[in-house]
Amino acid sequence: MPDLTGPMGNPRRSSILVTGAAGNLGREVVDRLQSHGALPRCLERDGTGRRSGVEWVVGDLTDPAAMRAALEGIDTVFLIWPLLDAAPAHDLVAELVAAGPRVVYLSSTAIDDEAARQSDPIVQVHADMEALLRAADLRPVVLRSDTLASNARGWVSQIRVGDVVSGPDMARTAVVDERDVAGAAAAVLLGRHDRWDDGPHLLTGPEVLGRADQVALLGTALGRRLRFRAVAADLARSRMLGDGRPERLVEALIAASTRRPESNRVTDHVERLTGRPAGTFARWALDHAAEFDRGTTAAPPSAHDPATPGR
Ligand SMILES: NC(=O)c1ccc[n+]([C@@H]2O[C@H](COP(=O)([O-])OP(=O)(O)OC[C@H]3O[C@@H](n4cnc5c(N)ncnc54)[C@H](OP(=O)(O)O)[C@@H]3O)[C@@H](O)[C@H]2O)c1
Repeated sequence: MPDLTGPMGNPRRSSILVTGAAGNLGREVVDRLQSHGALPRCLERDGTGRRSGVEWVVGDLTDPAAMRAALEGIDTVFLIWPLLDAAPAHDLVAELVAAGPRVVYLSSTAIDDEAARQSDPIVQVHADMEALLRAADLRPVVLRSDTLASNARGWVSQIRVGDVVSGPDMARTAVVDERDVAGAAAAVLLGRHDRWDDGPHLLTGPEVLGRADQVALLGTALGRRLRFRAVAADLARSRMLGDGRPERLVEALIAASTRRPESNRVTDHVERLTGRPAGTFARWALDHAAEFDRGTTAAPPSAHDPATPGR
């Protein structure tokens, strides 16, 4: 197992594996673990997201051999499951059972615990993953996240060239800053909250927002009048297919945009885990305005497609 050398020349061992470490949320989780002095091991599929100061392993979540290697010597795993089907997770679950780490699973606040079937395939995957992890007796700590503010990066290319953002509308939700979700995840991963509570912890932002609200707030941050224009599902579908997106993904995204119910739920769970109230989308927009600025040419990391509804 690779060791890195710590500040005092002592060998340091990675005990926390972060999956999706190059993604919008994963990067923030890694940052917070590092700022607490931890040395996370970061899983990514290629070498593009690498930064110094952390240990990187390349692998796919669906590759049992890669996951076995990634889990070696690991005590705690921050697990995301970005696939549209939980069935390929059986191999990973077997590797987790064999390796025996604590598992912190990043799920969705859109899960309805009373429903036999969830509103759309993306939420269903999260419900299936939670069930799979519990059935394997892994006793996952479940963090259910609301819509991440970072999904707004999907609008970067439209906002750089015009004042109208068009795409499928989504139900209003308590959009949460991914930095807060990462802070909550880090608190759990590091065992810094009062008790190792399995959750589910419902991580929301402080206010319920629609897409039009978010676009307007981005406009305020940029000093521009931006508007959101909802497009019908059929047009959104044909645009996404035209962009070369896989049909299954397109149908899942359309289902999410048309079937997911509105949620007015705002919780204090971010504050309970991090000690600080959840930040507003207005704050997120101000902090990230440069990414949307017309003068910016570099693409923001891991941008979502403009037509992509939040997951
Ligand atoms: N976005 C939301 O609103 C939301 C809400 C609730 C829950 N979630 C959950 O949170 C997760 C992270 O969200 P995010 O916005 O950070 O997503 P993201 O920016 O798209 O990042 C996902 C990361 O996962 C990696 N990945 C994808 N498939 C993989 C595979 N088969 N094996 C290994 N790595 C793989 C991607 O790598 P590549 O760069 O190689 O593709 C990417 O780095 C989502 O996948 C979802 O399950 C999201």
